Amino acid sequence: QRLELKLEAIEKGGYEHFMLKEIHEQPRSIKDCFRGRLNVDEGWVKLGGIKDYESKLAKAKRIIMVACGTSWHAALVGEYLFEDLARIPVEVEYASEFRYRNPIIDEDDIVIAISQSGETADTLAALNLAKSKGATILGICNVVGSSISRITHAGSYTHAGPEIGVASTKAFTAQVTVLTLMALSIARKKGNLDDTKFRRIITELELIPDKVAKILEQSEKHEEISAVYKDARNALYLGRGNSFPVALEGALKLKEISYIHAEGYPAAEMKHGPIALIDEEMPVFVIATKGPSYEKVVSNIQEVKARKGKIIAVITEGDTQVKAIADHYIEIPDTDENLAPLLATIPLQLISYYVAVMRGANVDQPRNLAKSVTVE
Ligand code: AGP
Repeated sequence: QRLELKLEAIEKGGYEHFMLKEIHEQPRSIKDCFRGRLNVDEGWVKLGGIKDYESKLAKAKRIIMVACGTSWHAALVGEYLFEDLARIPVEVEYASEFRYRNPIIDEDDIVIAISQSGETADTLAALNLAKSKGATILGICNVVGSSISRITHAGSYTHAGPEIGVASTKAFTAQVTVLTLMALSIARKKGNLDDTKFRRIITELELIPDKVAKILEQSEKHEEISAVYKDARNALYLGRGNSFPVALEGALKLKEISYIHAEGYPAAEMKHGPIALIDEEMPVFVIATKGPSYEKVVSNIQEVKARKGKIIAVITEGDTQVKAIADHYIEIPDTDENLAPLLATIPLQLISYYVAVMRGANVDQPRNLAKSVTVE
C-alpha cells in the first residue's frame, strides 16, 4: 500500500492531484501539440495527419463538429476559428443529439469528431452514422489508437499526454490548439488569410505556452479568490464571442469537481432572464479581455454590479477600467483575439480546482463521473 502511494506520488510529479499537474503541464502540452506543425521563421502551419483532406476541407460548404462535454466546448471555439479565419460555415452538434436526429448528411459533408479519449460512445456513434451516409469523417483525439482514431478517414492527435484527472484541462487547450492550426492551414489554402495577419497570429501562437506559464505563476491569487467563493451555492460564467465557449467550459469545470451549480451564458443573454438570478450571493465570473466586444462586456458587468452581484473578471494585463469595478480580477497576458480562449480558460481551471480542494471534494475522481463515457 505504501509502495502504491509512493508510485502515485511519482506519477503526480509532486502535485497533490493529477488535475493540478495537468493544469501545470499546459505550457508543455501546447508546445508538444504544435511541434512539427508550426514554423514561425519559415512561416508555415501544417497538419500531416489531414494533408490528404486539406483540399476537401478548403472546398467544404460546411463542416459539422460532433463532441460531448469539454470537447464540445472546444468545438464551439473551433466554430469561431473556422468561420472567422477560413470563412467556412461550421455546425457544432452534441454527438448524443446528432446521432438520433436523423441529420441531413451527404458525401459532400465533412464531420470532425473531437474526443480526448477517442472512446465516447455518443461521439463514436455519431461518426459511424456520418460515415454510413458517405461523409468524410476526421478525428481530433488525444489517445493514440483509440476507437475514434481508428474509424476516421484521417485526423490529428492532440499530443497532450495521458490525462488522468476526470475533469479535462490540458486536453481542452490541446484540442483548441489543433483547431487553431487546422483553421489557419485551411484559411491559407483558401487564400483568404493575408500574410500579415497569418504571421501575426502564428507569432502570437508560438508565445502562448510562455503566456500560460505566466498565468500559472499567479496561483495564490486564484487561491484567495477561491476561498471567498468556495461556499457559493450557484455561479454564473459570462463571455461574448469566442469567450462564450470559455464561459461554458469554466462552468462545467466548477460544477463537475466542486458540485456547485454553475451555468455559462453569452454575456448579452443576461437581460433575457438570467439577470433575475443576480443578488449578493451570486458570484459572476466574466471573461472581459480586450477584444471587439470589450466595451459591451463592461456594460454587462455594470448591469450585474447594479444588482449587487459579485464580479470575478478575467482581464487583459494593464486593464484599469474593469479593475476599478470588479470585486476580484485575474490579469492574463494580451494575445491575438483568435487565441484568447487558450489563455482565458486557465484562471477558470485553477479556480475550479482550488474551490473543489477547499470543499474536500475528490478532485481527480468526482462523484458519479467517469473519465470516458463509453456507454450511452
Ligand atoms: C470534461 O471535464 C468531462 N470529463 C467530460 O465532459 C468530457 O469532456 C466528455 O465526456 C467527452 O469526453 P471525450 O473528450 O473523451 O470524448
